[in-house]
Amino acid sequence: MQIPVKKIVVITGASRGIGAAIALRLATPAYNLVLAARDQSKLQNVVMQVLAAGGTAECLPCVMRDPAQITAMSAAVLARHRRCDVLINNAGLGRFNGPLHTLEPDEWDRTMETNLRAPYLLVRAFAPAMIAAGGGHILSISSLAGRNPVPNAAAYAASKWGLNGLMYSLAEELRQYKIRVSLIAPGSTLTEFGDGMSAKKSALGALAPGDVAHIVEMLLTQADASFISEVLIRPTLKA
Ligand SMILES: NC(=O)c1ccc[n+]([C@@H]2O[C@H](COP(=O)([O-])OP(=O)(O)OC[C@H]3O[C@@H](n4cnc5c(N)ncnc54)[C@H](OP(=O)(O)O)[C@@H]3O)[C@@H](O)[C@H]2O)c1
Repeated sequence: MQIPVKKIVVITGASRGIGAAIALRLATPAYNLVLAARDQSKLQNVVMQVLAAGGTAECLPCVMRDPAQITAMSAAVLARHRRCDVLINNAGLGRFNGPLHTLEPDEWDRTMETNLRAPYLLVRAFAPAMIAAGGGHILSISSLAGRNPVPNAAAYAASKWGLNGLMYSLAEELRQYKIRVSLIAPGSTLTEFGDGMSAKKSALGALAPGDVAHIVEMLLTQADASFISEVLIRPTLKA
C-alpha cells in the first residue's frame, strides 16, 4: 500500500490566535506543518499541541518585517522538504488607536511590512517551488476591514485592501500552474489582535479562531477542479 504524502503547510503567525487554531485544525496525518512567528516558546507550545493531537509540526521563528529572515525561513523549508504545498499568510497586526493624521510613520511601516510586504515576499519565496511541483495553494487571511472604511484603523484597513488586490491579481497569474490563491476575510474574532479591542467591542457576536480555521480546512479539502477564491465570514448572530 502506498503511504499518502503529507502536504507541507507553512503557517505564518501560528504562535497564537487564528494561526494557532489553523495549526490545531490541520493536526492530522494529511499535513506536515511549519509554524512561523516571532515567539519561539509559544510556537513550541503549539507544536506540542499539534503532536499531541496526532499531527506533524515543527517551528521556525521568523520576523515577518525582516526580508532576510523570510528568505532564511523559506530556504530552510525548501532545503528540508523540497516543496511547499500550502502557504497560509496569517501573521498580521492592527491597532485601532486614532485617526490617520495622528499615526506615527513607524507604525504605518510596521503595519504595511507585516500585513502586505511579508505576504509578497513569501509568495516570491514559495511560488517557484509550487510551479515546479505542478500545483499548490496560497491562502491569505484578510479581513472585513479590507472591504469597509475603518475609522481609527485606516492603515490597517489599507493594508488589507492592498492584500486583497495583491491576492486577486496573484490568483490570475498562478491558476495556469494549478495554484489556487484564496482570500479569507473574517469579521471580529476573539483573539489578542489589536489588544483584543475589536473582539471586545463585539463580544456578543465575535467569531472564534476555530471558526476561521474550519474555513481554512474546508478550502484545503475542496475538490481538485474547484477554486473557492474568497470567503467572507461573519458571526451568525449580530452583537
Ligand atoms: N482577530 C480579529 O478580529 C481579526 C479579524 C479579521 C482578520 N484578522 C486577521 O487574522 C490574522 C491573525 O490575527 P489574530 O486575530 O490571530 O491576531 P493575534 O492573536 O494578535 O496573532 C497574530 C499573529 O501574528 C504574528 N505576528 C505579528 N507580527 C509579526 C511579525 N512581525 N513577525 C512574525 N509574526 C508576527 C504573531 O506572532 P508573534 O507575536 O509570536 O510574532 C501572532 O502569531 C491577522 O492577519 C489579522 O489581520 C483578525
